[in-house]
Amino acid sequence: MPDEPGANAATGAGRVLELDGVRTFYGNIEALKGVSFHIDRQEIIAILGSNGAGKTTCLSSIVGLTPPRSGRVVYEGADIRGRSTDSLVKGGLVMVPEGRRIFPALTVLENLRMGAYLRRDRQGIKDDLDYILEMFPILAARAGQDGGTLSGGEQQMLAISRGLMGRPRMLLLDEPSLGLAPIVIRSIFDTIKKINQEQKTTILLVEQNANLALQVAHRAYIMTTGLITLEGTASELMNDESVRKAYLGG
Ligand SMILES: Nc1ncnc2c1ncn2[C@@H]1O[C@H](COP(=O)(O)OP(=O)(O)O)[C@@H](O)[C@H]1O
Ligand SMILES: [Mg+2]
Repeated sequence: MPDEPGANAATGAGRVLELDGVRTFYGNIEALKGVSFHIDRQEIIAILGSNGAGKTTCLSSIVGLTPPRSGRVVYEGADIRGRSTDSLVKGGLVMVPEGRRIFPALTVLENLRMGAYLRRDRQGIKDDLDYILEMFPILAARAGQDGGTLSGGEQQMLAISRGLMGRPRMLLLDEPSLGLAPIVIRSIFDTIKKINQEQKTTILLVEQNANLALQVAHRAYIMTTGLITLEGTASELMNDESVRKAYLGG
């Protein structure tokens, strides 16, 4: 893919993100004990694991909120450790944090515009806004309402949409299913798939809900107390007996 900004021969064809031996601490608690994985262009990758496994710390280590003590984080061929959030967003790397942290006192439309805060391409912003409001008619219907008045599922859609307004090449999603009803989760995951296919966005999805995540992911990594303990394609993991027992309810 020579026309893609991230296609760098030195990093392999279309390698978007690579973590290599990342170790991250909270005080003297080692939350990541040497984590390595990679994501290629246009993949959906899931990191699965129980509560406390270190999934969120993986994402916050990538974007520098919890800077790794050692190891490398390489995005589109460059080590991004120490870079500011703004510089990462400008570079197309956008995180949607856990708990759908939208601005409750701003309207839906204002929340969406916030996602484009670093962009100056007015036409592009308008096009992306149209695309999002078409994909989520419920957000269009509630455009003038305060974000805080939305249901949990609608807030998650708004949080993802706000991320999309930064026009990411890679989206990091932390537990988009958390606390939502099954039917709402279904539609969120359908949307994740659609974004990946239509916008060609590379997606790293962190989830406790292994069943659903494996239905949309191409490959997945299983994390247990700060380490990647298993990796494979989604179908390999769905058919793996230990994975079924531990994460898929038998
Ligand atoms: N701010 C923090 N201070 C101290 N320990 C933390 C903090 N955040 C997470 N941890 C610890 O780091 C480990 C990994 O947490 P986390 O990355 O949030 O896991 P997950 O997202 O998989 O549930 C856990 O043992 C957790 O208690
Ligand atoms: Mg978490």
